[in-house]
Amino acid sequence: MTSTVITRIGELMTVDDEERVLRDAAVVIDADRIAWIGAASEAPAADERVDAAGRALLPGWVDSHTHLVFDGDRTAEFEARMAGQSYAAGGIAVTRDATRTASDDRLAALLTARVREARAQGTTWIETKTGYGLDLASEERSARIAAAGVDDATFLGAHLVPAGRDADDYVREVCGPMLEAVRPFVSWADVFCERGAFSPEQSREVLLAARTSGLGLRVHGNQLGHGEGIRLAVELGAASVDHCNFVSDADLDALAEGSTVATVLPACDLSTRAPLAPARRLLDAGVEVAIASNCNPGTSYTSSMPFCVATAVLQMGLSVAEAVRAATRGGAIALGRATGEGAVGSIAVGHRADLHLLDAPSATHLAYRPGMPLTAAVWKDGHRAP
Ligand code: NIG
Repeated sequence: MTSTVITRIGELMTVDDEERVLRDAAVVIDADRIAWIGAASEAPAADERVDAAGRALLPGWVDSHTHLVFDGDRTAEFEARMAGQSYAAGGIAVTRDATRTASDDRLAALLTARVREARAQGTTWIETKTGYGLDLASEERSARIAAAGVDDATFLGAHLVPAGRDADDYVREVCGPMLEAVRPFVSWADVFCERGAFSPEQSREVLLAARTSGLGLRVHGNQLGHGEGIRLAVELGAASVDHCNFVSDADLDALAEGSTVATVLPACDLSTRAPLAPARRLLDAGVEVAIASNCNPGTSYTSSMPFCVATAVLQMGLSVAEAVRAATRGGAIALGRATGEGAVGSIAVGHRADLHLLDAPSATHLAYRPGMPLTAAVWKDGHRAP
């Protein structure tokens, strides 16, 4: 067991209950946990000393929405979209075909490489979903690979009704044998509740079956138009409803009164040229907001949380502090990981030592210098990421 003191931190954003910002601070890591936080002049000695030289230290990003278990490429679809076509989710079948034909080893290697890319930009906790298998064997395999490669795995068998399948029949398979097959590997279930994907009734069926199996609930909702996804998520106590591009006043009221986190996906909104999710309006209404990358080959082929944070500030009207919170603690709340033993998403004694040292004196630089390589160092569970 080694201890590390990171000292001479120019700006330490704890993102804890008090949202403290400390100057000339230090943090001590003991094994995989944060053991001490305070003034650099009072820091206890440790086995190893890291001189932050005035740079900013944040919690590692918590990316609560990705789809990283896939093979194949959708550049042509992206080009068509940039030429004016709109996103309609049909490309999911293209990725499904490429994913089904990939070997287990290849899918696992692709996932590992994607997690490494995310880590290099400061992400220390990642959720990922199945949903490019869409039959029992392929979904089970995706769930197994996801569970081995990321921190939180989610079953998204209800991503798209496979062509040629009767929707209700497919939903029965998702709720029955598929759910049973993936159950050992996942802690969450998700459903794409949208016109062209799953109706509110079908989504409810999937979510109720998942809840009966002991899984936590997540929903893709209100991405392509107004609908019932957000209100269904709140009604069933889902941990998070993600996308939220089309939010009515009734949706807003439901979110404000409920406990479901609204997860916005800025990179997806840009890549699909969708109306930006109204993150400012959500925050002003008192809704807990998370920011995630939604890294996937169709709508958001980036895992860069700094890019998402910069976009949330520059385009969605969030302050830097609000965007950083949404991309750290917000994601942790959306995954039920913000409190308790081994919590993530904030810098507090006893929490996991998941830390992100910026190559900048303050978090403001994330938005002030968008697109610049501002990650100086990353610790995951107390270990310096390569
Ligand atoms: O979150 N909206 C549904 N699912 C993904 C996109 C899937 C795809 O097009 O491959 C999303 O944006």
